[in-house]
Amino acid sequence: MPKKSWPNEKLIAAAQKAQKNSYSPYSKFAVGCSLLGDDRAVYSGTNVENGSYGLTICAERAAVFAAVSGGCRKFVAAAVVSNSEKFPYPCGACLQVLFEFAPKLPILLINREGLTEETSLEKLLPFPFRPGS
Ligand code: THU
Repeated sequence: MPKKSWPNEKLIAAAQKAQKNSYSPYSKFAVGCSLLGDDRAVYSGTNVENGSYGLTICAERAAVFAAVSGGCRKFVAAAVVSNSEKFPYPCGACLQVLFEFAPKLPILLINREGLTEETSLEKLLPFPFRPGS
């Protein structure tokens, strides 16, 4: 996980701020994700649902696209918050997209009560698809 010098609280607060903007009228599952870039900037995203259902984008991918759009392609850590009592494990599609830019990303999960669990991309996606797979 991030080193002691690195402010987890700041990343969590950014994810919670993004979560407040969640557009999730269908699932009512509000997610926020923040990525700490190697440029030390924080990039955030929230889930944006769609009436078609299938066009919904998860918070994690929204955060990755915000980071890459902002010129950052390397991530140091991620925080994911949801409004569930369970920890918001990122879905397989988001893990694969995160893998593209941060294969060993430490991931901090935060539940509704503010409890945290530290995990990593390597743990959650042990067999990613790679070019040449
Ligand atoms: N969702 C995320 O934002 N991240 C995940 O990793 C899993 C699911 C969103 C998508 C949808 O808006 C809602 O949660 C229910 O699946």
